[in-house]
Amino acid sequence: MRLAITRPDDFHLHLRDGDMLAAVVGHSARRFARAIIMPNLRPAVTTLAQAEAYRQRILSGLPPETDFQPLMTLYLTGNTSAQEIARTAQSQVVCAVKYYPAGATTNSDAGVRDLSQVYPVIEVMEKYDLPLLMHGEVNDPQVDIFDREAVFIERHLLPLLARFPRLRVVLEHITTLDAVDFVRGAPARVAATITAHHLLLNRNALFQGGIRPHRFCAPILKRENHRRALLAAATSGDPHFFLGTDSAPHRRADKESDCGCAGIYTAHAAIELYAEAFEQVGRLDQLEAFASFHGAHFYRLPRNTGRIVLERKPWTVPESYLLADNSRCKPLRSGEVVRWSLEDD
Ligand code: NCD
Ligand code: ZN
Repeated sequence: MRLAITRPDDFHLHLRDGDMLAAVVGHSARRFARAIIMPNLRPAVTTLAQAEAYRQRILSGLPPETDFQPLMTLYLTGNTSAQEIARTAQSQVVCAVKYYPAGATTNSDAGVRDLSQVYPVIEVMEKYDLPLLMHGEVNDPQVDIFDREAVFIERHLLPLLARFPRLRVVLEHITTLDAVDFVRGAPARVAATITAHHLLLNRNALFQGGIRPHRFCAPILKRENHRRALLAAATSGDPHFFLGTDSAPHRRADKESDCGCAGIYTAHAAIELYAEAFEQVGRLDQLEAFASFHGAHFYRLPRNTGRIVLERKPWTVPESYLLADNSRCKPLRSGEVVRWSLEDD
């Protein structure tokens, strides 16, 4: 069986920098026409000049004859100035600003401690119609890790949307039924991305036969009823929901550690994994809208013109991918089968 769809976009991607960037960018460029690039480098991408320089490094790391377009973001900190946001909003390079609650995930220590502290900057984003992308988890150690997304919606997102009635917001990598219900009922200025791993795995996968650090990500995998709700939302045709892989490569040693970091690498098989998930519920007919139309519409980008062809032909994922410094990155399904393949262009 073959499935041809308009070339998709990845609306949430970590490409990193240096050796890691060189090793991973080709995987995304082979599948996607464009991607929203996360700014959580060390140091974080906090200015327009840094975003422009990072974009150039990505373009120079691309394999020859690819026309992949990185859509850049700025990392919101307590020190971000209104002037920088105004400058950014008028550039063609930066498409959105990313909010991380300080300490919630990988490289988020520069994040925002108190959302109300950045309200003056958010006001400028609203004025210039620059979307705010939110890592939607509270970082309150009193709140159970499995409840942090639902509590974020109540405590922070609702007041934010009430205070800024025209601000466009993407709730990133949603993982719960609570988030699905909230976004489905929200106005069109609110949207959500959904990862392939949250569509395919529930929290049992974290402890299958032992502790599985390569399945640890933020927000953490949830119960099966939440996975089902995400799958129903992604395959429903509702334009609030679109594709964002949150592919987040790490060196193997950084994950297999006493305090392993969050992030799952999926770029090597991204659209194929989404096809598997959609097939599970018999909704492959909805893959194109989710992967290629809804996100472009939200970001006011033209639809891509090219196509990709998926084939239901199993292949075995390599154990790991080699980085230039000889370290390795272990992908999702490492050494295991993915049911769908991408045909060569
Ligand atoms: C991301 C990373 O590694 O940069 N990790 C993750 O688990 N998703 C950060 C993020 O998006 O939270
Ligand atoms: Zn991410």
